Amino acid sequence: MSSTMSSTQPPIIDIRGLSLAYARDGRRTEILSALDLAVPRGQFLVIVGESGVGKSTLLRVLIDLAKPSSGTVRLETDPGTLTPMALVFQDARLLPWRRVIDNVAFGLERHGLSKPERRARAAAMLKLVGLSDLAGRWPHQLSGGQRQRVAIARALAVEPEVLLMDEPFSALDSFTREGLQDEIQRIKAQTGKTVLFVTHDIDEAVYLADRVVVLAGSPGRIAADVTLAPPRPRQRRDAALVEAARHLRAELSRRSAEL
Ligand SMILES: Nc1ncnc2c1ncn2[C@@H]1O[C@H](COP(=O)(O)OP(=O)(O)OP(=O)(O)O)[C@@H](O)[C@H]1O
Ligand SMILES: [Mg+2]
Repeated sequence: MSSTMSSTQPPIIDIRGLSLAYARDGRRTEILSALDLAVPRGQFLVIVGESGVGKSTLLRVLIDLAKPSSGTVRLETDPGTLTPMALVFQDARLLPWRRVIDNVAFGLERHGLSKPERRARAAAMLKLVGLSDLAGRWPHQLSGGQRQRVAIARALAVEPEVLLMDEPFSALDSFTREGLQDEIQRIKAQTGKTVLFVTHDIDEAVYLADRVVVLAGSPGRIAADVTLAPPRPRQRRDAALVEAARHLRAELSRRSAEL
């Protein structure tokens, strides 16, 4: 385990000195403070940390939904990309009045593609997540895991260079969750995308990640930055992953004891 990066390419995301404060009860509360984080292209980065530490806020900054008080966020994304980043939430947030295929095509409407082009791309994304057979269903006719796969297909349809995922599997039972963990690794391998994935689940983090960053403290800072080397496909009980999980748990409890 180490915190060094070997890539010589410029990072796809380069965050320097990022601070963010919200005004609450007439007072400014700093949520994130002096955060530096460089993400190499193609990395599967997992962010863990206690509830309220600022994980979702960090993703919101990246997708331009929250404005930092100071610092810079540099994106080395391709200027020709439709959407540099797409976000998958904890709940699928599908439109109930649209069939599955039209939910997946939804984000493409503002990109000037014709309806047949949108449908074709949506169908390809449904195939990628293994849901081709359900294209004509309504969201209420899907299981939670299927809905989440539709949300992933919808995010991928706009061909983002970076896929942001905010606790995307935490509302699912452990059996479905493990299936989707394998699926997202397969999709990652197939598309080569950079993934920023937030979770509370340390076992999930070490199973998925090339690198795990721990956010801790108030305001939130990077408390640990761990690279995970085991090759894929991984074994859930791999000794190196079990050891990394133990180290991260110890780091998290040490940090929360300090506060
Ligand atoms: N729009 C807002 N205005 C004021 N405070 C906010 C706003 N959004 C979030 N916060 C506060 O910022 C802090 C960080 O919130 P954030 O949602 O980023 O946490 P999180 O790490 O994602 O937590 P969780 O694991 O529970 O999702 C919390 O204390 C939250 O109450
Ligand atoms: Mg959150």
